[in-house]
Amino acid sequence: MSVIHLERRILIVSTLFVLTLFGVAALAINTFHVGLPTCLMDIKPFQKGEVITHSPNHFEVHYVSKMWKFEPEEVVVPAGAIVDIYLSTPDVTHGMILIGTDLNLTAVPGVVNYARVKLDQPRNYKLLCHEFCGTGHERMAATLRVVDQATFDARQTAPKPPQQTDAAYKLLEAKDCMTCHSIDGSEGIGPTLKGILGRSTKLKGGSTVPADEAYLRESILKPDAKIVDGFDDVMPKPELTEEELNQIVEYLKTLK
Ligand code: CUA
Repeated sequence: MSVIHLERRILIVSTLFVLTLFGVAALAINTFHVGLPTCLMDIKPFQKGEVITHSPNHFEVHYVSKMWKFEPEEVVVPAGAIVDIYLSTPDVTHGMILIGTDLNLTAVPGVVNYARVKLDQPRNYKLLCHEFCGTGHERMAATLRVVDQATFDARQTAPKPPQQTDAAYKLLEAKDCMTCHSIDGSEGIGPTLKGILGRSTKLKGGSTVPADEAYLRESILKPDAKIVDGFDDVMPKPELTEEELNQIVEYLKTLK
């Protein structure tokens, strides 16, 4: 066989091989719905993690991986929903694997990586960083909770527990209230704010008052008017606008 014939054969075989490869990839994507990670150069990396609901069956999650955590740390979706995952990082290179699935992305500064997953079985999926990214690397984990539709619907309609990200909570922090008070039931230098509205409150001196709205307003504006039994008269008078006072009182009512 001449060299030219040999070259032609090699060329034909390698072309067939490449076409087969593309064919198998197309089959995997279309028939077996294997997601291919994609790098998006035209989307700006995001500032914060968030979940966007496109439809009851289609969610978009923006994950921000940073030293050393994922935001959001927990995402809950209903089983069978399509979840579009976008991953970015503001600092160094991180990885993202979703244990038990074939999701495997790398977070590279400056770009956004994308993959789509569809998880049919209710289960808690662990999300881990797989690029060594510094001393806190092994702490980088998050959870993707896939729940059945009924559980998901119940969660949506249940009143949301107060979050430390609420605007009113931030205001309480800014006014230094949270140095002495808590919203989780633990007592500090001052009584907890959890369940404060309507709480029967024993005062220094022995009398008991219901903590109604008037009491809350008075206790905020004139901290020394009534002192709760077991605590000291140490709360400073806060500087609040009428609007801020109303915001705080409305917030306190939600701390059941
Ligand atoms: Cu991030 Cu390892």
